[in-house]
Amino acid sequence: MSLPPLPRWALYAAAVGVVLSWLPLALIARARAVKSPTPRIAIFQDMDNQPAHRPQSLARIFADRRAMRPRVPGTVARGETADAVSAAGRRDGEWIDRSPLPVTEAFVRRGRERYDIFCATCHGLVGDGNGPTHLRAVKLEEPRWIPPTSLLSEQVRERPDGHIYNTIAHGIRNMPAYGGQIPVEDRWAIVAYVRALQLRSDAPLEMVPLEQRPGLR
Ligand code: HEC
Repeated sequence: MSLPPLPRWALYAAAVGVVLSWLPLALIARARAVKSPTPRIAIFQDMDNQPAHRPQSLARIFADRRAMRPRVPGTVARGETADAVSAAGRRDGEWIDRSPLPVTEAFVRRGRERYDIFCATCHGLVGDGNGPTHLRAVKLEEPRWIPPTSLLSEQVRERPDGHIYNTIAHGIRNMPAYGGQIPVEDRWAIVAYVRALQLRSDAPLEMVPLEQRPGLR
């Protein structure tokens, strides 16, 4: 016995159905290959989306709108106690002339590392005030941009160590404070490195060991 032949419309419907069944596959394949500006659909959220603030973002719940919160004033972390003179950069109300901490090679190297992280973006790797942040502001013609002072200038050379220390800790005029991120000892290490940059910028050739002079052997 044989089945009656399928009607024509059923054959057409089956063909269309088969083609339509490829559609989700085609859409998935397309979604894998094409970039989209909208976030992907996440059926299983896991912990992908959280209301936590991200570093360097805006947080409107705080008056200064910084998501990254500064330290609570007056808090001292373990191992971070310092004597009053080192912590203030002053003795009897006067800036101290020289760093209160012994300046060794390792100390200056530490200062260089910290300087490159925190200061170079504005003041430049060599301290001349031409860091990338400054160059960018100039390029964008930022109307209110105040250029970072050259650390090689007479003005900064003549500052007592305690004054530069204080600039790092509390900022100065338009420069923000870095005391929240840089602990006391590192501030002094940076001061030592700023002095090294100043020395380096106009060091006489005689200071360079013979075997390190370029082009001279
Ligand atoms: C966001 C940019 C920026 C960063 C980062 C920055 N500074 Fe400055 N700095 C400035 C600006 C701008 C001035 C000039 C402020 C003014 O004249 O209003 C300045 C001025 C100074 C001065 C001269 C102050 C004086 O005696 O008149 C010193 C010294 C200094 N900065 C050291 C540092 C050190 C050290 C660091 C790293 C811990 C640092 N700065 C990080 C922008 C910056």
